[in-house]
Amino acid sequence: MKLLSLITLCAITSAHEITQLKVPLYADPRRPAVLSCHFQMEDQKLHSVKWYRDMNEIFRYNPSQKPPIRLFNVTDIMVQGGECQADSCMVKVMPPPVATRAAYTCEVSTEGPKFQIARQTKHMTVVAMPDLDPVIIGAPKVLKPGEQIFLNCTSDYSLPPSDINWYIDNELQKPEQWQRTELSAIQPGGLRRSWRVLRVRVPPTASGALRVRCEAILLVEPPVVRDTIAIITVHSRTQLSKYVSNNRGVNCVKLGVSSVILVAITWTFTQISRFTSL
Ligand SMILES: *[C@@H]1O[C@H](CO)[C@@H](O)[C@H](O)[C@H]1NC(C)=O
Ligand SMILES: *[C@@H]1O[C@H](CO)[C@@H](O)[C@H](O)[C@H]1NC(C)=O
Repeated sequence: MKLLSLITLCAITSAHEITQLKVPLYADPRRPAVLSCHFQMEDQKLHSVKWYRDMNEIFRYNPSQKPPIRLFNVTDIMVQGGECQADSCMVKVMPPPVATRAAYTCEVSTEGPKFQIARQTKHMTVVAMPDLDPVIIGAPKVLKPGEQIFLNCTSDYSLPPSDINWYIDNELQKPEQWQRTELSAIQPGGLRRSWRVLRVRVPPTASGALRVRCEAILLVEPPVVRDTIAIITVHSRTQLSKYVSNNRGVNCVKLGVSSVILVAITWTFTQISRFTSL
């Protein structure tokens, strides 16, 4: 009980605190990201608010100095602006065009003689999500058993670039040696498309439909998956030959009937001639 009241007392006397730190989990490299730090000063006087990216200072607010706000560009990051109110500071940064994860820290310190510091950190990952599903090129509507084709699946632009997985009837197709995922040229913001070719060999006995699925995966946490399906009909030759042999069967039966008639006629003719010879 005594311990509890001591803790409560500490919480009350611990002067200022950061009440909310807003750092987006993901930042698009094509747009600036806005980060904000909200704080409560209680009865303390604000000395400064600083923002750090990893260990580097990118922003400083010092109300007693002129100008009160100073921005610092650090490698890979452009600090576009910053603004402070009595209880908050926000900073606008242009994320670097590479898939990186960085720690953003807000640090709020009080005036002397105490110079107390409150600090909070959150991480931001640079990611550009794909807007569109991947595209499959080269899929015909119909294939014959034993045929071989090459399909090409291309993902939408993203950062990091997507991984490509192929499935045939829900079975993952392991890439052959030469079938690596290839990357397109780089776009503003570091975005790229990726593509991978799949060789489809239709088994000689196959028939029905082939369900080919291409999956573009962005390996972020949690992964982002987009996919496209192509259905290819396999026209089986065995079905065709069955049809042909059935036809032949019918002909055979017809031939059989005519043979019976012919035999009957021959028999009758023999009987007649035997009769006439009598
Ligand atoms: C940061 O870099 C950008 C682009 O090079 C520039 O426009 C801006 O003035 C720089 N800011 C600071 C504080 O140096
Ligand atoms: C696959 O498609 C992409 C873009 O759609 C193209 O750049 C690439 O050359 C194609 N690859 C093959 C082997 O056809």
